[in-house]
Amino acid sequence: MNNIITIDGPAGSGKSTIAKILSKELDLKYIDTGAMYRAITLLALENNLDFQDEASILKLAKKTKIELDYRAADEKGFTKIKLNGIDVTDKIRSKEIGAAVSIVSKLSGVRRYLVKMQRSIAKGNKAILEGRDTGSIVCPNAILKVFLTANLKERVKRRKLQLEEKKQEIKVKLIRDEIINRDRIDSNRNDSPLIIPENGVVIDTTDMSINEVVEMIRKIYRERLNES
Ligand code: DC
Repeated sequence: MNNIITIDGPAGSGKSTIAKILSKELDLKYIDTGAMYRAITLLALENNLDFQDEASILKLAKKTKIELDYRAADEKGFTKIKLNGIDVTDKIRSKEIGAAVSIVSKLSGVRRYLVKMQRSIAKGNKAILEGRDTGSIVCPNAILKVFLTANLKERVKRRKLQLEEKKQEIKVKLIRDEIINRDRIDSNRNDSPLIIPENGVVIDTTDMSINEVVEMIRKIYRERLNES
């Protein structure tokens, strides 16, 4: 899979920002897998389904047309996503969805359904996938599998800035609690938890600028391409 880069890591580690820039610079299709889990969570929420009710959530998801825009929006914007033709880009970023998405993401049936969809989107394309299991499960043969991380303080700071840019004021403690809670659930679930993929390149971005991270990944990607 010479044309695939995966970027995984915990909430606020910089995955989206970095993946969007690389998608543009290297002309790769941008696949935001977290947006898909968020969209399914929104479906469950809007249809008053219990977040643990896998059968009903899956049934509804299979009946729903999920459309992702694979052209990366500018690095501060979110990728457009539609459910049955309706734009839900902003809705899937709400506090409610943030609080529930890790619960829905634990459901194995939902994961199988989305992983299949993600693989078929990536197949035969030049793509960059971003999420929690894109290197370990979705595309384990990717030419470059990156695991981004940063310390908690820095990740909280970045999330706060991101929310401020969107004119959303949320208390630091709430942001911190949400990040800790999501990391705990995402890293400890039985099915495809957040892990460093085999042969993954770990980059701690705590003290790095966006440019430095992009440059580092681009360099390793070029080296891998030359070796292949
Ligand atoms: O990257 P994000 O914050 O939009 O992801 C939202 C949630 O979706 C994340 O907390 C866990 C889940 N997720 C997942 O389980 N597997 C992925 N590949 C991507 C996201």
